[in-house]
Amino acid sequence: MDRLKDALLTYHERSKHRVSYYAPGPGRLDWATQPDPFRVFRGAPRIGLPLAADTLATRYNALRCGALPPAHRFDLSNLAILFELSLGLSAWKSYGANRWALRCNPSSGNLHPTEGYLLCPDLPGLSAGVYHYVSRDHALEHRAAVDEPQWTEAFSESGVLVGISSIHWREAWKYGMRAWRYCQHDCGHVIAAISYAAAALGWQTRLIEAAADDAVADLLGLDRGEDFEAAEAEAPDVLLWVGNAQFRPGLERMLTALDKAQWHGCANQLSSGHVKWPDIDSIHRATHKPRTREPPSPNPEPYSSPAAPVLDLSFARIARQRRSAVNFDGTTSITSTAFFSMLACLSARRDTPPWNALTSPAAVHAALFVHRVDGLEQGLYMLVRNPAALQNLRRSMRPEWLWQKTGPDHLPLYFLLPYDLRGAAKLICCDQEIGANSCFALGMIARFEIALKQPWRYRHLFWECGILGQALYLEAEAAGVRATGIGCFFDDEMHALLGVKDRGWQSLYHFTVGGAVDDPRLSAFPPYEVQP
Ligand SMILES: Cc1cc2nc3c(=O)[nH]c(=O)nc-3n(C[C@H](O)[C@H](O)[C@H](O)COP(=O)(O)O)c2cc1C
Repeated sequence: MDRLKDALLTYHERSKHRVSYYAPGPGRLDWATQPDPFRVFRGAPRIGLPLAADTLATRYNALRCGALPPAHRFDLSNLAILFELSLGLSAWKSYGANRWALRCNPSSGNLHPTEGYLLCPDLPGLSAGVYHYVSRDHALEHRAAVDEPQWTEAFSESGVLVGISSIHWREAWKYGMRAWRYCQHDCGHVIAAISYAAAALGWQTRLIEAAADDAVADLLGLDRGEDFEAAEAEAPDVLLWVGNAQFRPGLERMLTALDKAQWHGCANQLSSGHVKWPDIDSIHRATHKPRTREPPSPNPEPYSSPAAPVLDLSFARIARQRRSAVNFDGTTSITSTAFFSMLACLSARRDTPPWNALTSPAAVHAALFVHRVDGLEQGLYMLVRNPAALQNLRRSMRPEWLWQKTGPDHLPLYFLLPYDLRGAAKLICCDQEIGANSCFALGMIARFEIALKQPWRYRHLFWECGILGQALYLEAEAAGVRATGIGCFFDDEMHALLGVKDRGWQSLYHFTVGGAVDDPRLSAFPPYEVQP
């Protein structure tokens, strides 16, 4: 275990950006080897999915308050909605001769390392098996056809599994060593995107915590050397059960059934050349997850609903209009009611997306730089998402912080320091203006000890950050402003500001929310050709 811990710490330290030097990267972009953002399995039978998301009436505000609609039937059309509103394209953009797709899930550098899979029993419109989702075409590729009773038995309650994997090279091509972190953030964003879209269909989502990485790889067909050959490998991330919250499908039975399955298709090669990043291989190995016990279902936590957002939009609209701001105007402010309501949505509540996906207690807290929130003093605030962490956080940070409880009674928000922190926020966000021009920026402060005890949980900490980020993206849209995830930040500058001296707490992701400045040079096009 010490060896894994050392490897983890080495990667963590070496992948930090510092004011005096950045984490090792490629130096310049080699456009000749730019990875294809779309994976396909050539030769696998395809099922074109209907574009049915506009038929969904669910309002975003109902979801964030945990008021899910009655469960929809599991069939082709509803699963098409699940994918369209989570991993599907949301627009095409162009500038000059360049054209690129945006998706409902964000991604560092818009590189999209994440691939999505569906595992299902026989359903109306879909036969049993393993499918790969191609966002570009809104289609499923039937990777494995399964006709075994064990497979059907494993799905004894109605529901499906969604599998997630990452192609590290897609991010490493641009970001080098730090890319592995971004793959994990992106995975967290996807977990949340699936959880929201499933909830809009009345379905609960749960991460299958017990599954070993090897089992995830087997179930998704990622270890099938003959289907990948020169194609870039996919690292297994996670399986999500979408259905009845209490049920878990029998993975062993599914694996037995897959032994007799017929697999179809070969993965496309995404780049003609590759650069090796040994640190990424090392952290991938160090955080390999063995099989573990399924944790007990957490007790439901009492909470009060957040105030209604400024805009009452359908979930489908919010999911597709979510965008990252390239910069903020530096003048827009939001009301304290809107601010508190956004923060209320970041607190873990079971059966409410996106937090229903997680079973572990909250391990990530938000250190907020408030610049422009009407009625709230500028300065540093801390949202303590798990009350059990309060004393430790207080002990680990500067003794002079005020820790003054502020905001609504139910909101665990503390005022630490009155100050104009725009300069500090900009500096910490790798000197990006967006940090200062936002209404507020934040650093996500994770209980790092968790990763040191169980190294695979390092990935979980990043996922929790990504989930928080996705909640903030949607909340910002509903508040009439915009958000941007910030993967480029100076880690130890943030720790120095907070007064964190050891590795008990580490900042793993940053975020900004504000009034967006659009780039008028870009043209936008619909995500898919309209079907006749
Ligand atoms: C993990 C992560 C890190 C990001 N880091 C930055 C960043 O440091 N600076 C920035 O301007 N945008 C950042 N972004 C925003 C991405 O550039 C954006 O998601 C991507 O271009 C796709 O655009 P969209 O979010 O509008 O779909 C980040 C996004 C993610 C998910």
